[in-house]
Amino acid sequence: MEESMKSCQSQCEMRQPHSRCMENTRVALWETLRQVLDRHDRMNIWLKGLAGVGKMSIAFTIAEEMKLTQRLAASFFFSCQHAQHATMFIPTIAYQLALVFPSIKDAIMKAITEDELLLSSGKSHCDQMQELIIKPLHPVQFHKEMSYAIIIDALDECFSTEEEARLVKLLTESFLGPDLPNIHLLFTSRPQLHIHAAMQTDIHEIPLITGNDATLRDVRVFLWVSLDNIRKTRLDHFGRRQCLGIRA
Ligand SMILES: Nc1ncnc2c1ncn2[C@@H]1O[C@H](COP(=O)(O)OP(=O)(O)OP(=O)(O)O)[C@@H](O)[C@H]1O
Ligand SMILES: [Mg+2]
Repeated sequence: MEESMKSCQSQCEMRQPHSRCMENTRVALWETLRQVLDRHDRMNIWLKGLAGVGKMSIAFTIAEEMKLTQRLAASFFFSCQHAQHATMFIPTIAYQLALVFPSIKDAIMKAITEDELLLSSGKSHCDQMQELIIKPLHPVQFHKEMSYAIIIDALDECFSTEEEARLVKLLTESFLGPDLPNIHLLFTSRPQLHIHAAMQTDIHEIPLITGNDATLRDVRVFLWVSLDNIRKTRLDHFGRRQCLGIRA
């Protein structure tokens, strides 16, 4: 059974690396995200924006940054092209949590042994959350000065609107217990009303919009760097003139 959790985790990893934000873009956003993720409360973050606005790239870049400082508790990137993996969402999060907090591993294994249907798609997210995550985390003492993140991208790609709302409600209320580690949830999705309505806690909403000064600056950076890369790979054609440099 541990194997099926592991295999879903490796399938998720095989779909990586996702696209990352180019260096020197989204500068103001990183500042905001780091400030919230450093807080010692449970403030969650909702990055909302229309298709193609860059939600996944931001989620993946911040997940990699949190991983470097051992503060990434878990991450999951939903994809409608791999919708079958969505059924293993909670078990995959539990598996990753057990890698970060090894003392919960035995309790997770016990839960799976006692209920052999626990990992099946027939089990509700709610039951899986209780048995695989919340109960195993409860008895453990955590450093309250450490704050972690669980990053969930494209929450609205694989489920019906009712399921999405139930999942958001479940996630935002499950990590509130005083004995649990400080975990910030960071969700991304399109700006859907039912997702907003389902959130059970105060949430830091970050709308991703296009057409503002910051986005125009990022597009300029992107073009300068991309064109300069072409120049560097075609020295025969463009000669050895000085690098263009970024003029943001
Ligand atoms: N800061 C950035 N630097 C470089 N490339 C970026 C940046 N932001 C977005 N992109 C590029 O824009 C494209 C769309 O980004 P992404 O897939 O992250 O958007 P999305 O909001 O998740 O889209 P969807 O809603 O369709 O899932 C990708 O090719 C990505 O590489
Ligand atoms: Mg996306």
